Amino acid sequence: MKTILVTGGCGFIGSCFVRMLIRETGYSVVNLDALTYAGNLANLDDIAGDRRYRFVRGRIEDAGLVAELCRGVDAVVHFAAESHVDRSIEDASPFVTTNVLGTQVLLDAARAAGVQRFVHVSTDEVYGSLGQGDPPFEETTPLAPNSPYAASKAGSDMLVRAAWKTYGMPVLITRCSNNYGPYQFPEKLIPLMTINALEGRPLPVYGDGRNVRDWIFVDDHCRGILAVLEKGRPGEVYNLGGECEKENIEIVRLILEILGKPEELIQYVDDRPGHDRRYAMAIEKVKRELGWSPATDFRAGLERTVQWYCDHRQWWEQILSGEYMEFYRRQYGERLQ
Ligand code: NAD
Ligand code: DAU
Repeated sequence: MKTILVTGGCGFIGSCFVRMLIRETGYSVVNLDALTYAGNLANLDDIAGDRRYRFVRGRIEDAGLVAELCRGVDAVVHFAAESHVDRSIEDASPFVTTNVLGTQVLLDAARAAGVQRFVHVSTDEVYGSLGQGDPPFEETTPLAPNSPYAASKAGSDMLVRAAWKTYGMPVLITRCSNNYGPYQFPEKLIPLMTINALEGRPLPVYGDGRNVRDWIFVDDHCRGILAVLEKGRPGEVYNLGGECEKENIEIVRLILEILGKPEELIQYVDDRPGHDRRYAMAIEKVKRELGWSPATDFRAGLERTVQWYCDHRQWWEQILSGEYMEFYRRQYGERLQ
């Protein structure tokens, strides 16, 4: 039986991936997560007691800890990151620490331990922004990141590439488009708009609301990562995406329609500085080589997601009230960031 070290497994996508490994495969999982504001143990309550699952609280920049954890694992799947663009605009330094430095520490430890596969989970944002008529990003599109978040992810991608070129380390990079689904932290577009609509609060749409994102249901992304882990060619980059381009305002209107709430809640606000206009991913390579493609219809996935937030009020109320951070303080008795 193989053991996989997952970093950032208490976040939105990492928790979906860990759940998938435990429920649908025979792998054992070690989940290393710092429990920053975005990490939530409640995301994995349902599998936390499984004998193939082990949680370790710690940071990927902790060289001693990651060296210890890498010994005895077969593969690393690296999700841990600072992930929110608006936060990176406020303060880039945690992004450089975690996304750049942390990735290098993890690479060094995995290489020293002879880990057989290292999957680095990256993002379409490293490619920059598309104009309206431009073709979608391909794996060969030059990197042109525009936000500090995207720049830090591009930096980590370059370090992963260097580990392959310099040391022949068996790395693989996935770059995915915008995810949505259950357990997404309520700072991101879809959960934020859903919760605000439920609470009758204004829905803050940046700029003209016509920026385009390519949306993918989180389970589909995780199945793509699993395919890359199991069947991808070392040294390769694989784009993943939903083939589902939508303007932000269309999504906001759909959420209001699903919830039966009035469009008067929409409030146009100042644009995000450096706001990328459009993302779209070409995913022919992963379809052709690994037989993966996204399966979830957007309308059905969005309805499922909105329903999940309606049914899991306690989950997001605890986040909004800060209660879950209090729980960690009691549990771990130390200062959290
Ligand atoms: P998230 O912010 O929900 O979760 C990040 C997790 O990483 C949290 O559990 C956090 O506690 C942990 N973490 C942060 N810093 C850490 C550190 N220094 N050491 C250990 N753990 C740390 O993020 P997400 O949306 O689940 O994204 C996961 C990964 O997928 C990221 O690498 C992100 O760049 C990438 N990605 C996200 C999307 C998206 O739409 N959300 C799309 C493509 C790629
Ligand atoms: O494309 C993949 C990326 O998607 C991931 O790498 C990032 O980790 C993830 O955060 C996400 O980045 P975005 O910036 O695209 O996601 P966000 O949910 O922050 O915003 C989506 C769009 O909605 C974007 O055009 C900005 C807009 N927006 C966002 C918020 C939070 C608003 O109009 N109002 C808002 O309040």
